[in-house]
Amino acid sequence: MLGEISETTFKWLDERLSLSAVASAAGKKKVPLHKQSFWYYMGGIAMLLLAVQFLTGILLMVYYIPELSSANSSVLFINSQIDFGWFVRSMHSWGANILIFVLFAHMFSAYFMKAYRKPRELTWISGLGLLMLCFGFGFTGYLLPWDEVAFFATKIGIDIAEQVPLIGVILANLLRGGLEVGQGTLSRFFLLHVIVLPLGLFAIAGIHLLLVQLHGMSEPKSFQAQAPEKKKYEMFFPDFFMKDLMVWLLAFNVLATIVILFPWGVGPEADPFAAAPAGIKPEWYFLGMFQFLKLLPAHISFIEGEKVGLLIFALIGGIFAAAPFIDKGENPKLSMFFDMYGLMILIGLIAFTIWGYLA
Ligand code: HEM
Repeated sequence: MLGEISETTFKWLDERLSLSAVASAAGKKKVPLHKQSFWYYMGGIAMLLLAVQFLTGILLMVYYIPELSSANSSVLFINSQIDFGWFVRSMHSWGANILIFVLFAHMFSAYFMKAYRKPRELTWISGLGLLMLCFGFGFTGYLLPWDEVAFFATKIGIDIAEQVPLIGVILANLLRGGLEVGQGTLSRFFLLHVIVLPLGLFAIAGIHLLLVQLHGMSEPKSFQAQAPEKKKYEMFFPDFFMKDLMVWLLAFNVLATIVILFPWGVGPEADPFAAAPAGIKPEWYFLGMFQFLKLLPAHISFIEGEKVGLLIFALIGGIFAAAPFIDKGENPKLSMFFDMYGLMILIGLIAFTIWGYLA
């Protein structure tokens, strides 16, 4: 009886959603097995963490109040008075940081495995779009608890945005929503964080995942060079999918353990009239760039130092983003150049981040 109902339900859905076509496509998808296969799990972990962010973010919105007089106390209330509030809040704060860390791993592994090459150029570009959106989530979310450190770090962040050539002043005014960081900024950051960025993320993540399904997993050069009889694959469904589930379980447990051992606190409420406390730093993923900008002199020739710094970032980032359109796999020297280029960026990022942390 039950079997008959599920069969009828499946048939009903199949006629409308072509489920068998999807199932048969998934049934054919193969994943290459090699020494670097481990990196294929990073995108899946990012998906899991995104789901955690959405769920915990919705729960936080039940009690969070985006008003200057209540923002900090509402977060304190969530942390101390609501059952499991501290857990949900810490999952959201830790989850955001770990998500960005995983995205770095995902991006650099895709880069060094040359997974950006034809036909995955748009997968690469959409991925970069997702990373930018996640930076946006991090920057806007940081201010929401309206604590001292977040307030001053945001002020510095907006001042840096003001230095972007041509559009900087407009961008900073749009973000600030007034002459000073205040209610206008909090309202705008809240709207960006809970509506605008999620909409963008849904759209681009949809495209990214669709492209991943369309093209299947890329094969690194060393794998492609093997004789056909030596190449090993596993079926995406059920073999790789089952491993994906195990990795998700593991990642979720790692996150929950960190959250329980190191719950995320709330700093003292921001006082816009107080002097900035010493050693204000942005979140770790902006720290490397922040440290680099700090080292520049006030003026380089007739241009402000920070403007020059931002132009350097744009140039370095632009070449990195354009890798699929330049390094197409036809020229071994170019390929080697991009390997070195990526390595320099990675080392530079790590070194400046550690420097910024210790400074
Ligand atoms: C929220 C952010 C993201 C999610 C949820 C996501 C998800 C995924 C998933 C599930 C896969 C297939 C499994 C894998 O290769 O790991 C994938 C592949 C890929 N992603 Fe992402 N991704 C994100 C961000 C990024 C970023 C930041 C980049 C790089 C700029 C990127 C570039 C790629 C590329 C090139 C592939 C193809 C890899 C291959 O075929 O070997 N993605 N992504």
